Amino acid sequence: MSDTRGTATFRASAQAYDAFMGRYARALATTFFEVCRLAVGGRFLDVGCGPGALTTVAAARLGAAAVAAVDPAPQFVAACLERLPGVDVRCAPAENLPFGDGIFAAAAAQLVLHFVSNPTRAALEMARVVRPGGVVAVCVWDMEYGMEMLRAFWDAALSIDPGAPDEEQTLRFGGPDELAGLFASSGLDEVEEDTVTVTAHYSGFSELWSTFLGGVGPAGNYAVTRPEPVQEALKDAFAERLGRPGGGFSLSGVARVVRAKAPR
Ligand SMILES: C[S@@+](CC[C@H](N)C(=O)[O-])C[C@H]1O[C@@H](n2cnc3c(N)ncnc32)[C@H](O)[C@@H]1O
Repeated sequence: MSDTRGTATFRASAQAYDAFMGRYARALATTFFEVCRLAVGGRFLDVGCGPGALTTVAAARLGAAAVAAVDPAPQFVAACLERLPGVDVRCAPAENLPFGDGIFAAAAAQLVLHFVSNPTRAALEMARVVRPGGVVAVCVWDMEYGMEMLRAFWDAALSIDPGAPDEEQTLRFGGPDELAGLFASSGLDEVEEDTVTVTAHYSGFSELWSTFLGGVGPAGNYAVTRPEPVQEALKDAFAERLGRPGGGFSLSGVARVVRAKAPR
């Protein structure tokens, strides 16, 4: 099975991703790796690696040779290969991991599970490639409690376009227990859930707006596909939602994090 529908809004460059989401993803990766105790001795797999926020943390902690990464978006795979020599980076979806059974000590997916077409199949695949008792961990933005940038953007979009898609995909697994429930029903053991908060800094609103013009993810894609006058209205409504910041400011994001063990 090869399913790449989740990459429909991830065709932008690694640089555009870094500016838009990477500034959050890098901070999140460090804490996610620690909170989920992902250095458990053995090889590590980053599922849906993007340009490599979590892969970079894993390679620094475990050594590049102990790390593998997959993503179905070819430009992210190319960026990861270039940035992280020695890491085994492959173009593949979470639902069909190109690895044998039980070869990793841990597998993790950061900000990915809400984009995959079949999350249960992805969880089962992650459980399959880790050894019995190995760690499987995922995190997604908690859209219910706080990803300030995306919430303010979609609220602005909805205020001028009631048909705006909101973060349709990312609202999946937004609330407490949903991810843990998915893991438990996928046969994973010792399921633990937590939240992690990260912040990103912007020099001003124009810097933030420029990151949307990279067309990354559902929000960036929505912004760049609006006709010019609608885009201007959207920009203005977005600035209004953020209180029209006059200078530098920070925004925070809360991620819901789940760690479990593969059945023994
Ligand atoms: C928000 S980005 C997260 C990237 C990276 N993990 C990070 O933390 O920066 C979502 C990623 O999920 C990937 N993706 C989409 N569908 C996927 C699938 N079916 N399997 C694995 N990854 C997928 C996208 O290509 C994109 O790189």
